[in-house]
Amino acid sequence: MANQTQKTIIVTGASSGIGQGIAIAFGRQGANVVVNYHGDEEGAQSTLDQLIAAGGQGFIHQADVSKEEEVKALFARTKQKYQTLDVLINNAGIQKDSSFANMSLDEWNKVISTNLTGHFLCAREAIQEFEYKNASGAKGVAIGNIIFISSVHDLIPWAGHVNYASSKGGLLMLMKSLALEVAPKKIRVNAISPGAIATDINEEVWSDEESRKKLIELIPYQRIGEPEDVAKVAVWLAGEDSDYITGTTIYVDGGMTLYPGFVDNG
Ligand code: BGC
Repeated sequence: MANQTQKTIIVTGASSGIGQGIAIAFGRQGANVVVNYHGDEEGAQSTLDQLIAAGGQGFIHQADVSKEEEVKALFARTKQKYQTLDVLINNAGIQKDSSFANMSLDEWNKVISTNLTGHFLCAREAIQEFEYKNASGAKGVAIGNIIFISSVHDLIPWAGHVNYASSKGGLLMLMKSLALEVAPKKIRVNAISPGAIATDINEEVWSDEESRKKLIELIPYQRIGEPEDVAKVAVWLAGEDSDYITGTTIYVDGGMTLYPGFVDNG
């Protein structure tokens, strides 16, 4: 695995769950990690402590990724401290579940603003920096990397979660269209789509015995994932060993996207 030493990485939504796992994994590589968080400062501080203990360095920065000015400030501070940026992990995401008929405009807007618009705003700042770095025509491996942390629900329809699934479906085309646009500039853009990973977002499901059993029926590999499962893939996908990969989604889902209902049916 290519070493991330001295690489500078922003991880959005890094105060818990998958974002926290990814930030710590990059810390283990000796990277500079900017730990973005929205509301949970304590969680962000714990991420930072853990990634420093693992051999990295960094700082925490509060920003709502759906707010243009706050995103600009996050990137400006990163450049001020570390001169440039190498990798953006666009991870921040929320769920606001509701049946369709009862879904409020606020529940729709909040999810789209964080999961889709927020990813656009952060990616745009990263691309501007990468294009600036590439102004002299870089050769060799990629000069910049963006990884969108999406979901199996960029593919699997999800009743009762139309806002969330729509945001992830949108991310798929955001990722691919952007990858196409910037590939000649030696910028790579990919996605990781996790399945059921045990984090705060789905705690209600995995912490209850009955619903946990039902969830495992949807996972051919028969276990719920851990943030570390995603983090390892993110480190590899942001490194030189995967340099020829762009515009791709890697499903880290224990086979959830394999239509598990068809194992003895159809
Ligand atoms: C959601 C989780 C869910 C998983 C599998 C994720 O994107 O955030 O709540 O358990 O997809 O359905």
